[in-house]
Amino acid sequence: MSSAIEQALSIGDLRRLARRRLPRILFELIESGVEDEYGLVRNEAAFRQFRLLPRYLGEIEKRDQGMDLMGRHYDCPFGIAPTGFAAMLRRDADSMLATAARGANIPFVISGASAAPIQALARCAPDHVWYHLYPAKDSAFTEDILKRVADAGIGTLVYTVDNPVYPKRERDIRNGFSLPLRLRLSTMLEAATHPAWVLEYLRHGGMPVMDTWARYAGEGKSAGEIAAFFRPQSPCIKTWRDIEVWRARWPGRLVLKGIQHPDDARRAVDSGVDGIIVSNHGGKAFDALPSPLETLPAVKAAVGRRAAVMLDSGIRRGSDMVIARCLGADFVFVGRAALYGVVAGGRAGAERAIEILRTEVDMSLAMIGCPRFDELGDRFLICPHFSSGGSQGVESDGSGADRH
Ligand SMILES: Cc1cc2nc3c(=O)[nH]c(=O)nc-3n(C[C@H](O)[C@H](O)[C@H](O)COP(=O)(O)O)c2cc1C
Repeated sequence: MSSAIEQALSIGDLRRLARRRLPRILFELIESGVEDEYGLVRNEAAFRQFRLLPRYLGEIEKRDQGMDLMGRHYDCPFGIAPTGFAAMLRRDADSMLATAARGANIPFVISGASAAPIQALARCAPDHVWYHLYPAKDSAFTEDILKRVADAGIGTLVYTVDNPVYPKRERDIRNGFSLPLRLRLSTMLEAATHPAWVLEYLRHGGMPVMDTWARYAGEGKSAGEIAAFFRPQSPCIKTWRDIEVWRARWPGRLVLKGIQHPDDARRAVDSGVDGIIVSNHGGKAFDALPSPLETLPAVKAAVGRRAAVMLDSGIRRGSDMVIARCLGADFVFVGRAALYGVVAGGRAGAERAIEILRTEVDMSLAMIGCPRFDELGDRFLICPHFSSGGSQGVESDGSGADRH
């Protein structure tokens, strides 16, 4: 592990290292939101609305942050969300993330726009990878992808509902980002100031090939031609009918990512969905969407224990995960936090990101006097300004007698 990665104390430190390594156009691909990027700001700000109310002098010597989720035990309460085109940021980023996830016993969601072959990722981390489906306009391709995912032994399928049409990512458009990549001279000159990335890019023959889609684009197509083939196939508009068809067809666990309305959550569970990730795509779908932390309590109330309720968007600290749990999340995911790590230091960087978050969760549990992550609840929360969920102030939870 390089000393810079070892010395990184926070996800913010890994972010600074990632920024140094990447050409600006690619670093901004991670950072960007949509339109005026209010959603991006709102996601992180939502966590800052809460304070964690400590209970001291309890039995906290042994602490456990492991969580049971959809019939499986994970050692941490978080997993790694799907991030498309990660191989452009760091070659083999997907397998590095998958391997780091396996080492930490947490889930990693393969993006449907990943460059790595599904089978290879499943081999890297059997039992830890989930698959995020990008359905194609041509349903024969979707069917085939589902078969390949099942054949690889992957047990959990994730479908993202929050981008039925292509989002308006103005920062990326202004930067001249397109698929396939067509770089301006100014972009290439700026990229040349990040030689480690450029050398890696050239050594591997330029733009990575999207393996999942290569066979549908036709024999002998270049990475650029495959990306050009993918673009009009996805995103595409799907309905509850499609969810029902996939539910009947897919033997494993089915998760919908991006649900925010409690009625949609109820309908998902009624359709046989096993889990929901309350998410706004990390602020990358539509700028007027609520922060998932705002809608989580209502979704949890609608679903109860009938399905797993997870959350992502804006998590940068272990204490953010604790707040999400206090508001009802059964599990959380990080997108950018893991990407910063893998970009900054490859597999060791991904492992460092996980370790930082794991340690922060553990410290948060100790600091607030809760020995188990699964015992967190809104009695640990103070929310001076937030409208939905959480305690509004300090009240007795009636547990004082048994706690001390
Ligand atoms: C660079 C990047 C690519 C992403 N690609 C996908 C994707 O292909 N599919 C998807 O459902 N979400 C995608 N997301 C969203 C993440 O899965 C996740 O919802 C989001 O990053 C969580 O917010 P956070 O980054 O603040 O943790 C992407 C996010 C980033 C930053």
